[in-house]
Formats: sequence, C-alpha cells, structure tokens
Amino acid sequence: MYRVIQFSTGNVGREALRMIIARPDLELVGVHAASPAKIGRDAAELCGLGEPTGITATDDLDALVALGADCVVFTAQAETRPDEALAQMCAFLRAGTDVVATSFVWLVNPRSADAWLLDPLREACEEGGSSLYVNGIDPGYSGDTLALAALSLAGSADRVVIQEVFDYADYDDGEFTGVQFGFGLPADAEPALMATPGIVASIWGGSVHLLAEAMGITLDSVSDRWETWVTPTPIDCVMTKVEANCVAAVRFAAEGFRDGRAVIVVEHVNRLTPAAAPDWAYPPEGRDGVHRVLVEGHPGIEINSHVGGGEISETFAGVVSTAARVVNAIAAVRAADPGILGVVDLPAGYAGRVMS
Ligand SMILES: NC(=O)c1ccc[n+]([C@@H]2O[C@H](COP(=O)([O-])OP(=O)(O)OC[C@H]3O[C@@H](n4cnc5c(N)ncnc54)[C@H](OP(=O)(O)O)[C@@H]3O)[C@@H](O)[C@H]2O)c1
Repeated sequence: MYRVIQFSTGNVGREALRMIIARPDLELVGVHAASPAKIGRDAAELCGLGEPTGITATDDLDALVALGADCVVFTAQAETRPDEALAQMCAFLRAGTDVVATSFVWLVNPRSADAWLLDPLREACEEGGSSLYVNGIDPGYSGDTLALAALSLAGSADRVVIQEVFDYADYDDGEFTGVQFGFGLPADAEPALMATPGIVASIWGGSVHLLAEAMGITLDSVSDRWETWVTPTPIDCVMTKVEANCVAAVRFAAEGFRDGRAVIVVEHVNRLTPAAAPDWAYPPEGRDGVHRVLVEGHPGIEINSHVGGGEISETFAGVVSTAARVVNAIAAVRAADPGILGVVDLPAGYAGRVMS
C-alpha cells in the first residue's frame, strides 16, 4: 500500500484523484489545491465522488511535504509557472517522496530535457533518494510506448510518423490549450505562443530524440513547423467561440532531419469541427480522434490507437488516460533506482498495476 498525495484538482488532477481513492493499493493522504474556493473541501467532493474521504485540500506545501508520503501525483499547471512548480516538486523529492507527474511535459524524455530543469530536480532526487517520472498520452504514450511497440515489429525502419489527430471541439480547456494553440485568433493576429519557433520542438522533440535512439540513428537537426486554418463561418464549441476568418484548426510538428529528409515526425492535427482543414489528416471513420504510428520500412506498420468514444468523448478519455499513465506507474517508480526516469527506465509491464 502506497501513501499518496494528489497535487492539484484540475482536468487531469480530478481524474487522478478518483483513481487514487478507488484503488486498494493506494492510500490518499493529502490533496493540494491552489484555488481558495477548494481549500478545506473533502477530496471526494473535489473529484465528484459521493463518500467523503476525510482528506481535505490544502495549499500548505510544507504540511504536505511533512506527511512523508511515498509518492505525489503532480498534475498542477507547471509550464506557465516553471519556477514555482519546480520548487514544489523539488520540496517533495528532497524529502524522499517520489513524484509522478503530467506537468513539465519537457521531461517526458528526460534525456533530452534542458539543464535548467534537470539540474535542480536531479539534485533534489539525490538528496532525497527519490525519483521523478513525467508522462501523459501526448506527449508521452503516443511518442514512446505506442511508437516503440510499432518499431518492435519492424525488421527495418526508414521513417516514423507519430500523429495526434483530434477534434478538440468538446475539450473543456479553452483557457490553456485554446489560448496556447491560438484557436479563435484572427488570421492576421500575432501568432499564438505555441507557434513561436522552437516551442513545439521543445515539447514534442523529446519523442523525436527517443525514437532516434531506438532506431540507432543520429539526426542532423530537430526543428518544428506550424500551420493554421481559418474558418469561413463562425463556430461555437466547448473549447471556444471562433468568429469567421479566425483560426479553427492547427497542424504542427517536431521533425527530426537526416540527410535533408524528415525521418522522424511527431505531428498534431487539431480541429474544432470535422469541416475544418479538409485537406489535413483525419481519424478513421466514426472516430473523433486517433493517436497513430506509421512506420515506413520492412514491413510497413500502422497502429491506430483510440481512447474513449461512445459514452466518454475521446478528448475527455485522453485526459483520463493521461492521469492513468502516471497513477499506474507509481509502483514501478517506487521500485526504480533514484533519479529522473523516462519510460525506458521502467519495466515494460508497468501498466500491469492498473486496477479493474
Ligand atoms: N502529456 C499529456 O498528454 C498531457 C495532457 C494533458 C495535460 N498535461 C499536462 O498536465 C498538467 C495539468 O493539465 P490540466 O489540463 O489538468 O490543467 P488544468 O485543468 O488547467 O489544471 C491546472 C491545475 O494547476 C493548479 N495550479 C494553478 N496554479 C497553481 C499554483 N500556483 N500552485 C499549485 N497549483 C496550481 C490548479 O489548481 P486549482 O484547481 O486548485 O486552481 C489546477 O488544478 C499541465 O502541465 C499539462 O501540460 C499533459
């Protein structure tokens, strides 16, 4: 039985919290909330469960660290407030509490992450004899577990393309994803933050480097591209409202080049209506989304991976699966040697800890 703290109750955090409460091998011992309206409320209430847990949310970091928990599931926003989030993670790691996280997506492949992030976390792990593991569905699963599974079936591989093709219309994340991706921006407006050269490569480039390592190739460069599609008619969806002549679809990629050819491509196509960007890739018929791996080689391989559908929308299922990716890894992270872990540092069967 592992004593676990849930750090944040946003989109991913609420799902992680429900999993922790439900699992017999995990004991919830603490919950962090930043919003004053959440502080003092029972964990069950914060994730929509009926039976109180007796664990109430707090913003007292020191008190949470002092619990001496085995692991923190850290799902607080980090990319937009890196200094504070880094200090919060380091406090747990220094105290000997492992951290599994969906935050700081740059750490999905720690081998290619920047020193400003790695160095303090590594020092904290050393001091506390603790471990940190960051993952999610994308970046994460699609560019590591799924892609590595496809490559394991290839006798030879010349090129690998990873795609997330998702209709984000009903993704309730307008304030973050909506703004960062620039949905709703006029065609002639200043581009969204994510369109800044280098940002896409910094987030998805880790998967490019991981796959280059798996394929045993040296890349000449990793770069990114960004395209937008503007809608001729207004769109009103859960994600945001889009006026005519504003952005309703984006296509972007981190690409690893060798001899002038993009040999590893990690691409997103995200639209807000099926009618948007008709020339770009679509998921298979009847699906709102897909995580896809295409290997050009001998033999050619294609894996289309779907979460949810039916009663649970595929975008919401992606949020649930992002939480599951790290909650299911707690036992493996606890068993691992101290340090900053990537998926290749964990046993391939770690998802075997998923509870029914
Ligand atoms: N790799 C993937 O596939 C994937 C997918 C989805 C998300 N993510 C990552 O997971 C993280 C969470 O995403 P999300 O969609 O759940 O975000 P979200 O719904 O916006 O939730 C963000 C959470 O951050 C907390 N927070 C904000 N300011 C804070 C502060 N100063 N101190 C502590 N906590 C603070 C909020 O706490 P309150 O609720 O108390 O205000 C909120 O619960 C992000 O880093 C995101 O990039 C990764």
